[in-house]
Amino acid sequence: MIKKAVIPAAGLGTRFLPATKAQPKEMLPIIDTPTIQYVVQECVDSGIEDILIISGKGKRSIEDHFDRNYELESRLSEQEDEALYNQLRYIDSMANIHFIRQKELNGLGDAIYHARFHCGNEPFAVLLGDSVNSSIIPVTQQLIDAYEQYHQPVLGVERVPHEKVSRYGIVGGNKLNDHILQLTQLVEKPAPAQAPSDYAIAGRYILTPQIFSALERTPRGKGNEIQLTDALRLLLTQEPIVASIIEGKRYDMGNKLDFLKTTVEFALKRPDFAAPFESFLRETINKIDEAKSE
Ligand code: G1P
Repeated sequence: MIKKAVIPAAGLGTRFLPATKAQPKEMLPIIDTPTIQYVVQECVDSGIEDILIISGKGKRSIEDHFDRNYELESRLSEQEDEALYNQLRYIDSMANIHFIRQKELNGLGDAIYHARFHCGNEPFAVLLGDSVNSSIIPVTQQLIDAYEQYHQPVLGVERVPHEKVSRYGIVGGNKLNDHILQLTQLVEKPAPAQAPSDYAIAGRYILTPQIFSALERTPRGKGNEIQLTDALRLLLTQEPIVASIIEGKRYDMGNKLDFLKTTVEFALKRPDFAAPFESFLRETINKIDEAKSE
């Protein structure tokens, strides 16, 4: 049973400047919901309600978001807006959320190391906030299922275009079946010529407590930071690790264009926006086509 999850959220969000100058990137909304709420929802949908968020400087609004806001609640009660009131109350009760601060930004590996006391001797899930998933079975649940079958750490992976491998942690291994790889290699952000495959770590992991001692032995790597991928490579010399090819669609929040595309796709799936938004998109495309043919 996986009962705990860790969500690292201390990063500076430099890829989203200037929007992230004075607000956390995790609070950037897809339509009306902060991205971190989608990530917390994936935990809840996967049966995990004990969540540790690794927070940092300038991230206090994440804590506020998952706290109660009595002033807003009473205003909504007065206005008899029951739906919105219930939505608000759901956010502060959806999970037991704990926070710890990463005081210096020493990389993803160091962020995860901050979870050692919280996770103790239990396996735990890790969800990076820079992607949200849309899938029939929640992606974290897919990894939990693989963990229960193999009893090894599980990395969620997806195929990426070969020219983009240098943006990701890349794995290499042997296929055990259609969706499981027994890993033999792990490398953080390789040049395409050095990549062992096109399977990229997709921001979802099930880790065992052994990762913490591996992290203690991990020297600084790419970007002069303690990389989680490097610690996993050390761990791989001692114990087996599998990768699970995730089923579903991953929306990358790591860059502005993909964020924009995600917003459009999510709006087209929202019952309250789908129809008017689709007509707006069609009109816009028609105008573009007309302008081009003039
Ligand atoms: C991190 C990990 C990388 C992984 C990626 C997924 O990189 O270090 O292994 O593939 O997330 O989004 P980052 O995007 O934080 O540089």
